[in-house]
Amino acid sequence: MSEAILTISGVTKNFSDGERELRILRGVNLTVNAGETVAIIGRSGTGKSTLLALLGLLDRPTGGSIKLKNYETTELGEHQRTTLRGKAIGFIFQQHHLLADFTALENVCLAGNFARQNAGKKRAMELLSQVGLAERMHHRPARMSGGEQQRVAIARALYTEPALLLCDEPTGNLDPATGVAVMDLVWQLAGEKRTAMILVTHDLQVAARAPRTLTLQDGQLAG
Ligand SMILES: Nc1ncnc2c1ncn2[C@@H]1O[C@H](COP(=O)(O)OP(=O)(O)O)[C@@H](O)[C@H]1O
Ligand SMILES: [Mg+2]
Repeated sequence: MSEAILTISGVTKNFSDGERELRILRGVNLTVNAGETVAIIGRSGTGKSTLLALLGLLDRPTGGSIKLKNYETTELGEHQRTTLRGKAIGFIFQQHHLLADFTALENVCLAGNFARQNAGKKRAMELLSQVGLAERMHHRPARMSGGEQQRVAIARALYTEPALLLCDEPTGNLDPATGVAVMDLVWQLAGEKRTAMILVTHDLQVAARAPRTLTLQDGQLAG
């Protein structure tokens, strides 16, 4: 039986530009099951990053329901949302957002709860080995290539074994070959843990690997 990790319905998001309301999302519906990958494509400015920010509990919708695991997240307070985000969601963005003053290993460990750091160090080392960076664990991001930095970001995103992985243009800053290698790792590692994944991309080759591709257009998701 399939198990819904995420169910959203009637999600709207308006921004005010001072004079008028911009209705960016106009009733978005989506269900994602454990282990499922959904690619979302759509023209620039259609609201893909806005949608991911709502799903990642980084922002709140104007209206509608966002159910993650068994929580109606729109009804939770900020503290509960932060806790749920930390436990259940991993992010990979176009920019790696690694902390410059910390090593690869520290960057991965920092993704977890501070209290877990010692127990989690071994897991972080394993993850970095899995993404091919066993020799680079103690290097800072500035000494790494773009592909290597993004591989650290993958390890960081998966460190807490999130139920849901949100990827926003994860290969956007990489050359095509490096992008393919990075996505191979994401697919492999997410597949091993049956991590549900939502992948926003403008790269149709990347999207083509997802069993389900939806297009965000006119504020709605269509198949
Ligand atoms: N905080 C904000 N305030 C006002 N407008 C915003 C804000 N965030 C995004 N937008 C607008 O919402 C639209 C969708 O943006 P975005 O979600 O970044 O699109 P995409 O990721 O599909 O390129 C754009 O027109 C953008 O300018
Ligand atoms: Mg975007």
